[in-house]
Amino acid sequence: NDIYLRALGGVLPDHPMAFAELEERAAAALPPSVWSYVAGGAGDEATQRANAEAFGRWGLYPRMFVGAKERDLSVELFGRRWPAPLFMAPIGVLGLCAQDGHGDLAAARAAAATGVPMAASTLSVDPLEDVAAQLGGAPGLFQLYTPTDRDLAASLVHRAEQAGYTAVVVTLDTWITGWRPRDLATGNFPQLRGHCLANYLTDPVFRRLLGRDPRDDPQGAVLLWTQLFGNPLTWDDLPWLRSLTKLPLVVKGICHPEDARRARDGGVDALYCSNHGGRQANGGLPALTALPGVVEAAGGLPVLFDSGVRSGADVVKALALGATAVGLGRPYAYGCALGGTDGIVHVLKSVLAEADLVMAVDGYPTLADLTPEALHPLP
Ligand code: FNR
Repeated sequence: NDIYLRALGGVLPDHPMAFAELEERAAAALPPSVWSYVAGGAGDEATQRANAEAFGRWGLYPRMFVGAKERDLSVELFGRRWPAPLFMAPIGVLGLCAQDGHGDLAAARAAAATGVPMAASTLSVDPLEDVAAQLGGAPGLFQLYTPTDRDLAASLVHRAEQAGYTAVVVTLDTWITGWRPRDLATGNFPQLRGHCLANYLTDPVFRRLLGRDPRDDPQGAVLLWTQLFGNPLTWDDLPWLRSLTKLPLVVKGICHPEDARRARDGGVDALYCSNHGGRQANGGLPALTALPGVVEAAGGLPVLFDSGVRSGADVVKALALGATAVGLGRPYAYGCALGGTDGIVHVLKSVLAEADLVMAVDGYPTLADLTPEALHPLP
């Protein structure tokens, strides 16, 4: 890892090394309303804090005489080999974090530079095809917010298939926006809405539903989007979601073992344990606490995980608790705020290097060595 090797040789890194400093510098770099949106969460943000704090309740046992000189972090997922079990979680309106307004493209370029897969949000500032075109050889996942119009949903998924995404991630916990005091106080929502319509405005079904070119009626387009966004899905919708694509189908927001079992029985290819970083509902269980139950109920299906991951050591702990791959959220958005593609690459490489070094020092040379027995609960 070049950040590590260069710094060992005395070349100082270009961006902050500690998460706290990354956060502080991103707060200073972003316009206040964008900062509120990215950093904020639901209610008094207790769940958001608890997500990160939950990692502190587990400690890794260091194991000696292992000689973990070579580590292999690569993992096979959705028909592709990932360099490590780390990916960029979907972040809507990420564009606003970049100085040039194209944070989605910056993230895709960071994926191309590192091989770390990116999950592209439905609510991107740039259309999903433009994002895919920047991914290089890195796998892309398309995250679907399911609109109420089924043809529009099918069209978005079809476009993702055509653009070369390797899986579809349906987010279940955000058919309505949660109680987010910071965004309500800053009057953020109308402004954000204006920046996240790219995938709709470019969609043939959306244009047909609008009945005219969105450029001729921007207000009508926003209104229609508002009406179509947010489908309160039920289990009855799962067979239809499943039928939308032959790509691997992942459901995001699964925290209860019973939901994990039903989703598995409904034919999904992977579960995604997450509470949306505490942005949607306060008063919730930390996602890390929910992870082992989801893993057990998954019955061998891959389990993606995010919410509260702030370091390489956190990644290792989530893997030990059974995650197949771990999603980074806010930290890479902060990297984007500080340095666009370079800033994101810095964050991804730092997290990967720390995870690799924790595995080296603590004697867990392969992912198979990371089991719950590697962890001890702390008081
Ligand atoms: C998100 N997240 C998210 N999830 C999703 O499925 N689609 C989306 O469009 C978004 N948008 C989004 C915007 C912003 C600003 C943030 C911070 C997060 C949730 C994201 O995928 C992930 O679940 C959380 O970011 C994980 O929490 P932490 O680790 O970032 O605290």
